[in-house]
Amino acid sequence: MSEFRTVARLEEIPDNGLHPVELDGVSIVLASSEGEVLALRDQCSHEEFPLSDGELVNGQVECILHGARFDLRTGAAKALPAVRPVKTYECRVVDGEIQVRL
Ligand code: FES
Repeated sequence: MSEFRTVARLEEIPDNGLHPVELDGVSIVLASSEGEVLALRDQCSHEEFPLSDGELVNGQVECILHGARFDLRTGAAKALPAVRPVKTYECRVVDGEIQVRL
């Protein structure tokens, strides 16, 4: 299993906002929601559009291309046209650093 690695500092993410990062060539979107930071693959499962260009709505990330929504914790598709989940990653905050494990 891979290690947790720092991908950003907490202050880089707007409150209730999204922030794209990359780790080992994997595009990841960090989501700040209700004081927590969560990490998902930065690629909509509908047509591979970056979710980091979307927005947070009620604990879900919404893809701006066609409106699909995904649960931040599970990556489950919550609104059409997406039907497949997006991958989620373990994420933690240590001394103001956001760390993700692939
Ligand atoms: S590419 Fe995201 S909803 Fe179509």
